[in-house]
Amino acid sequence: MQEVIKTFDITSFENPLAEEIKKDAIQTLEQGKVVYFPHLTFNLHEDELQFLSPQVVAPKSKNISYDVIRDRLGGTICRGEEEQKLKNMMQRYALQSRLFIEKLFPHYKGHLNQARTSFRPAEIAGRSSSWRKDDTLLHVDAFPSSPVKGKRIMRFFSNINPAQQPRVWKLGEPFSEVVQKFGVKLKKPFPGLAWLLKVVGITKDYRTLYDHYMMSLHDLMKGDKEYQKNAKQQEVLFPPGSSWIVYTDQASHAALSGQYVMEQTFYLPVESLQDPETSPLRVLERFYGQELIESS
Ligand SMILES: [Fe+2]
Repeated sequence: MQEVIKTFDITSFENPLAEEIKKDAIQTLEQGKVVYFPHLTFNLHEDELQFLSPQVVAPKSKNISYDVIRDRLGGTICRGEEEQKLKNMMQRYALQSRLFIEKLFPHYKGHLNQARTSFRPAEIAGRSSSWRKDDTLLHVDAFPSSPVKGKRIMRFFSNINPAQQPRVWKLGEPFSEVVQKFGVKLKKPFPGLAWLLKVVGITKDYRTLYDHYMMSLHDLMKGDKEYQKNAKQQEVLFPPGSSWIVYTDQASHAALSGQYVMEQTFYLPVESLQDPETSPLRVLERFYGQELIESS
């Protein structure tokens, strides 16, 4: 099986990085592989350890989320001083991960759009949900209500589990092979669908053809039991104290088990990639022989 993950021995968020490492890391990432740092640790302060409990999450939320641009925290029952402490922890992760990513991928500097920071204190395994929302099945990321219009979805993760429990993932086949398998099964949207979805408020923005195909791909992959069983896949373990970066719109992945992870999402325009041809947008456009981001 092709290499799906590459290890980089970086042990600090602050130290300068060698040019060779940066070159290797951006190529690895843009090939849809996981850039893995076994010893890059997001450390909690003593008074933050109290947040390592699923009970800090508000009843209807799955995760705690933080918007670094608006300095807003959501999804928690913590109030007052506790809430401020939790916010500080999330903000530290947002800043550390951003500075680190800009240092590791100088090519992206000035083009990264920092989205939500999330803290996921719940165990993944055994969580009941519909198959469409079941992230223990192999998939590529696509969001039903937030069209990305071709932008890349990059995610930075850190396992902060205090009990030596790894985050267990599966990684599947390269994106181009996923498209070879499912491309012919993806149906065109019926005329007017994107307009309708926006008007009735299902999508926050116009759903481009690209978003439509990515959403369909996500659903077809998760809904295909044979594929889930027989597709090339490899289990990988991310132990506590480790961090990793991946384009989750490109790497076929599934999160099987684990508890307590920090995650920071970034969006990036396709043109800002070192090699835009590797993007899911360009792969799909080559497959269909047409542009998939139409003017809205
Ligand atoms: Fe995902």
